[in-house]
Amino acid sequence: MAREKSDSANVKKAAAEKKPVEKEIPAAVSPASTAKEAAPAPEKTAAAKKKTAPAAKEAEPTPKAAPAAKEAEPVKKAAPATKETEPAKKTAPVAKEAEPAKKAAPAAKEAEPAKKAAPAAKEAEPAQKAAPTTKKAEPAKKTASAAKKAEPAKKTASTKKKTASADKRKAKAPVAEPENTPVVAEPAPVMEESNLPRRSVAFIGSECHPFVKTGGLGDVMYALPRELARLNCDVRVILPRYACIPQEYQNKMIYRGEFYMDLGNTGRSYYVGIMEYIWDGVVYDFIDNEEFFSWGNPYTNLVDDIPKYCFFSKAALAALNYMNWIPDVVHCHDWQAALVPVYLRTLFKGSPVGRARSVITIHNLRFQGVYNIPTIKYWSGLPDEAFGMGALKQDWVEANMLKGGLAYADRITTVSGTYAWEIQTSEYGERLEDHLRYHSHKLRGIVNGIDYGMWNPETDPALAENYGLGNVLDHKMANKLALQKELGLEQDTGKFVIGLISRLTNQKGLDLVNAIVPQVLDGNTQVVVLGTGDKQYEDAFRAYEGSYKGTFSACIQYDEGRAHRIYAGADALLVPSRFEPCGLTQLNAMHYGTLPIVRETGGLKDTVEPYNEFNGEGNGFTFDRYDAGLLLDAINRAKSLYFNNRYHWDEVVQRDMAKDVSWEKSARQYKDLYLELTQW
Ligand code: ADP
Ligand code: GLC
Repeated sequence: MAREKSDSANVKKAAAEKKPVEKEIPAAVSPASTAKEAAPAPEKTAAAKKKTAPAAKEAEPTPKAAPAAKEAEPVKKAAPATKETEPAKKTAPVAKEAEPAKKAAPAAKEAEPAKKAAPAAKEAEPAQKAAPTTKKAEPAKKTASAAKKAEPAKKTASTKKKTASADKRKAKAPVAEPENTPVVAEPAPVMEESNLPRRSVAFIGSECHPFVKTGGLGDVMYALPRELARLNCDVRVILPRYACIPQEYQNKMIYRGEFYMDLGNTGRSYYVGIMEYIWDGVVYDFIDNEEFFSWGNPYTNLVDDIPKYCFFSKAALAALNYMNWIPDVVHCHDWQAALVPVYLRTLFKGSPVGRARSVITIHNLRFQGVYNIPTIKYWSGLPDEAFGMGALKQDWVEANMLKGGLAYADRITTVSGTYAWEIQTSEYGERLEDHLRYHSHKLRGIVNGIDYGMWNPETDPALAENYGLGNVLDHKMANKLALQKELGLEQDTGKFVIGLISRLTNQKGLDLVNAIVPQVLDGNTQVVVLGTGDKQYEDAFRAYEGSYKGTFSACIQYDEGRAHRIYAGADALLVPSRFEPCGLTQLNAMHYGTLPIVRETGGLKDTVEPYNEFNGEGNGFTFDRYDAGLLLDAINRAKSLYFNNRYHWDEVVQRDMAKDVSWEKSARQYKDLYLELTQW
């Protein structure tokens, strides 16, 4: 998800520090040129832009560079012309929705606001920073040999024989000699439910545990494909090959091939490498391009991220064509992959992958990939039809990548039923509520689960003592003591320990927490915060740690192991979010026998049943309005049960551990959705 800038700090630090594998990229471009081109002066006509583009020199390879249609070339054979016409029909609703817009916005008008909205100078800034001139000439030369472009298929095929076996290559450094063993020939996923019809699905998204994770999207991109593989899905996950991916995984990747791809109106030809890693029945294909992905953290700022994810979305589809692996369904996630459904029905509709149906999942509506129309046109190369009010266009001057994806996708899902409803209201709709209501017939909520392999207190290597449902009451205290020791808190099993594990952003309700810390710390309570993000929250929590030594711990860091130990060692976990599409921390907490204290919003509402003091039912403590007093009240209700009625508290602990928060049911719903889309 296009997090706030500060979220990039969440990327595992250790990982971020690791250097990417040294690789000679026969790329068309230097790491410099991206940003420079990010600034097409909006008021210029397309033609003028071409002339003035700073990439004028680089434009040389243009004629040789493959236009969109060319991308289909390696797989042309595989594309039955008849079927390809179908998807075109399906875009009809988009056209429909655009109608009223047309009335309101004659084409001529469109240009005007663009001028106002996008002062070219502003956009040019980061470009300049990013443009070391020296390197530029070199890659240009490399790409000039555009003949190479057509070659990859041949080249890789012919080198197949001479390359070492896959096993051998795994052992040595990646990015070895070109090789393109037919990917379909890799071991099939474990099929526990082989009686279900088989479907192939390409997951396309910007993060995935354990390679790169800033939040819950990374967890979902890891867990859901694995679960789908068990439900007889052939799953391939397509990710950017960021430099921050730990070396351990970089070493396991196998070179699958490469090709060149044109991008938007850049007039340039871009290298697309495919590095592959097969693990537990899931194939991970990493799109390699140092220019876009060598900057460390996945998300930086929109000026860089817009080109990066235009490239990624297009390259992901081109890679599927290149590998001749045409999925039944392309399932893309959040704004970073939102152009995928748009590409699928426009530039790629005549290519093999154009046959696939598309699903887009909204993990967080707050991030949408919005920029001025000329810039997104420039980078995406999408046709004008995609920039109507029914699709990418927003407020006359801006283009919204997520909005376009929602319009073109065959189905839209979000990560809980309540959030699916909420986002159609002005309170949670982030200005897309009307658009979402218009497309509500294809929208549904499927709640997230957690991966029981990754989150298992019985086997979790990070814990001081492992425990399960049968012995949680005997071992949880040992984990509490170990956590208190680790964090320099007073070691006392009698204290009520409240954890908070979160990106420290406006979404997460941290101002409510800040407002009540002194009232919460009553002498019998300790608070542990783990997270990074906005400075104001980081500072506030650090200040509390200073004032309440031994009682309040502020871990301003991203630390997987510590997160696991907090889930195990705390008694309760706070999730007082302003909005929460699903939320995973409350699920992790419950699975570790730690009671959640949550605001009744989005997935928190769907997954935490409020404790009922009269009949003893429920999973945690909840409050409804976004109000610090109500949060304090919920915390006090939790404390009261903990201190005054431990027997009942312990019952809830065990009930939560027994609750099914796995992916099983939800993965089945995704599978049903795929089957609904691909009835044959
Ligand atoms: P979001 O995706 O909005 O950040 P979720 O609750 O869906 O929120 O997912 C957050 C995920 O990130 C959980 O797996 C949580 O354990 C993890 N996480 C968040 N912050 C940290 C941190 N500072 N260190 C380790 N893990 C973290
Ligand atoms: C987003 C949401 C979070 C959700 C996660 C995974 O980051 O903020 O609520 O759990 O995506 O879907």
